[in-house]
Amino acid sequence: MRLTSLLLLLTLLFSCENETIERESESAPSKTKDSHSYANVNEIHTEHIHLDLDVNFENKTLYGVARHRMSKHETSEAIFDVKGIEIMKVTLGKDKNKEKATEYTVGKNDKMLGAPLTVTVDKNTQYINIYYKTTEATEALDWLPPSLTAGKQHPFLYTQGQAILTRSWIPLQDTPLNRITYSADVNVPKELMAIMSAENPTEKSENGNYHFEMRQPIPSYLIALAVGDFVYTDLGSKCGVYAEPSLAQAAAYEFEDVPKMMQAAEGLYGDYRWDQYDIVMLPYSFPFGGMENPRLTFANPTLLAGDKSLVSVIAHELAHSWSGNLVTNATWNDFWLNEGFTVYFENRIMEELYGKETADILALIEFQDLEIALIDLGESEHPEDTHLKLELENRNPDDGMTDIAYVKGAYFLRTLEQAVGREKMDTFLEKYFNAFAFKTITTAEFETYLNEKLLEPNQIEFNAKEWIYQEGLPSNCIKIESDRLDFMMEAANELNESETIQNGAFFRKKRSDFLTQEWLTFIRSLKHDTDPKIMMALDKSFRFSFDANPAIKSDWFKLCVRTGYTAVRPQMKAFLCKIGRRWFIESVYQCLMDSEDPSDAAFAAEVFEEAKKGYHFVSRSTIEQVVAGT
Ligand code: BES
Ligand code: ZN
Repeated sequence: MRLTSLLLLLTLLFSCENETIERESESAPSKTKDSHSYANVNEIHTEHIHLDLDVNFENKTLYGVARHRMSKHETSEAIFDVKGIEIMKVTLGKDKNKEKATEYTVGKNDKMLGAPLTVTVDKNTQYINIYYKTTEATEALDWLPPSLTAGKQHPFLYTQGQAILTRSWIPLQDTPLNRITYSADVNVPKELMAIMSAENPTEKSENGNYHFEMRQPIPSYLIALAVGDFVYTDLGSKCGVYAEPSLAQAAAYEFEDVPKMMQAAEGLYGDYRWDQYDIVMLPYSFPFGGMENPRLTFANPTLLAGDKSLVSVIAHELAHSWSGNLVTNATWNDFWLNEGFTVYFENRIMEELYGKETADILALIEFQDLEIALIDLGESEHPEDTHLKLELENRNPDDGMTDIAYVKGAYFLRTLEQAVGREKMDTFLEKYFNAFAFKTITTAEFETYLNEKLLEPNQIEFNAKEWIYQEGLPSNCIKIESDRLDFMMEAANELNESETIQNGAFFRKKRSDFLTQEWLTFIRSLKHDTDPKIMMALDKSFRFSFDANPAIKSDWFKLCVRTGYTAVRPQMKAFLCKIGRRWFIESVYQCLMDSEDPSDAAFAAEVFEEAKKGYHFVSRSTIEQVVAGT
C-alpha cells in the first residue's frame, strides 16, 4: 500500500514538474499587433483549449464549453474574440464541480471582426470556461441537409476557420500570433462520425461520442471539425482519406499518389511533424479547393476529376504542413509567407512526382492568373494590394486572398532560387522550416533571416525589398516556358484567325488527349468575340459544357458569356447551383455582371437566388456583393 502511494506521489510530482517545464518552454506570442483580433495575447494568452461540444442537427446549433488554460499573467482581464455566438456564462476553475461564475462583458459588434469578450480575472486565474451556443449568424459552420451530400441520406457539418471565422464557432483569441494545443469531446448523432484537425478515429463509435487531441501547438484558424457519414480508406504510409461511402473509391483512386507526395515533401524539407496525414472529402458547397487543417486536409469533391489532373491541390495542402502550419504567418498582412511558400513547395512536389514538364505547365497556368490579377488590382482602388506584404487594417483579411500572395509569392521564391541555385535554396528552406517550427513569423523577420542565412553569406544581391514592398512584378521575374501550352495557344490562334471551323485535325482530338491545364490554356487563348457557331462546334467536339471537370467548365462558361453563346445557360446554371468553390464560380458571376447584354446580369441574379442555399457563407457573401454590383 505504502509503496504504491509513494509511487503515485512520485508520479504526480514528476508529472507536475513536467507540466511546468512544458509551460515555461512554450513560446509567448510575438509582440506584433494583429488588427484582426481584439485579444490581448501579449498580456494573457490561451495555451490549451478543451472543447466540450454537442452537435445538434435539428436546430443547427452547436452547444459548447471552451475550457481555456491560460498563461501566467499579471492582468485583470482576458479578452477573447466572438462573432455570432451566444455566451451563456463564464466560470473560472479547473475542477468542473468547483467552477465559479465570473464577470464578463461582450463589447460592441463589428460587422467584420465580431466583438471582444472581456472576462475579469486575477493573477491566479489559470482556467477560464466559456459556456456558449452558436447562432444562425455563424459564419464558419456549414450545416447541410442530406440532399446536399453525396449519399443524400444523412446531414453533414463542417467548419471553415481561416481567416477570422473560428471566433464564430469557438470563443477564443482568434489570432495567428498565438499557438495553442487542443483537445475535444464531441457528441454527434450516432449514425455519423466526427473528425477534427487532430488525432482521429477510423471507425464510428457506438454512442456518437468522440475524443480528440491535437498535441502540437497550432494557430486558432486551424481548429476544424467535420461531421458526416464517413468511411476511412488507408492509403498507406500514414496517409488516408475519409469520404462518404459513395465517394470512397473515387477518392482513394484520385489520391493514390499521396504517400509518394509525402515522401517527396519530406525528402525536400525534412520530417513531417504531424504524425498522420489524412484528407476528408467535403460536399460541393465547400468554398475552397482545399484547406490545410493539420493532420486532416479538407478537400473539395471537384478534385475528383477521375484522371488525377487536379491533385496539385493536395500537394499544396500537404505543403502547408510546413509552410503555414509549422511556420505560420504572424498576421494576415503576412499571408504570402503561408501561400507563396506553399505554391512554391507544391510545385516542387509535383516536379518530384510527375517531372519538370508537368510542373512547368502548372506554374505557367498560375502565371496566366497572376497577369490578370496584376492588371485587375493595378486598376482597382487598392493598387498597393500587389505588394507581397499587405496593409489590411480595417479591411477584410479575405481581400488578401489573391494571386499576389499565391503566385507572385511563389515566383519571388523561384526567382530567388534561380539567383542562388537550387542546392542553396533547398538548404536554406529546410533550415527556415526548422528555425521557425511551431512559431509565427512576420515578413520583416523573414527578410532578416533571408539576409543573414542566404544572401549575405553567399554575397548575393537580390531585390527582395522591391518584390515585397513595391507594386507590380519586378523585371527579374523568371520566365517559364512550355511547348505543350504553346501548342494549345497556337491551336486557339488558328481558330481565332481563320474564323471558320475548318481546323479539322484539332477538332478530331478527344478531350482526354490533353490535360486540364492544356484545355484551360486553349480556352483562355480563344478571342472574346469568337463566333457562337464556333463555340457550339467546340462544345460538340469537346463537350466542355456537359461533362468537363469544374476547372474547365469555369473558364469555358466565362468565354460563353463573353462570346454571347447563351444556348448553354441551362448547363451554366446547373454548374453554378452545384459548385460552391469560390474561385470557380465568383469569376463566372462577375463575367455575367460585366456583360453588355443586360439579360446576363438578370440571369446571374436569378441563378444566385436559387444557388445560394447550397453555398457556404464565404462564397455566399462574396457573390452577394458581385451580384449587387458593389
Ligand atoms: N489556406 C487556403 C485556403 C484559404 C485561404 C482559406 C485564405 C481562407 C482564407 C488553401 O490552402 C488554398 O490555398 N486553397 C486553394 C488551393 C490552390 C491554390 C491549390 C484553393 O482553395 O483553391
Ligand atoms: Zn494554400
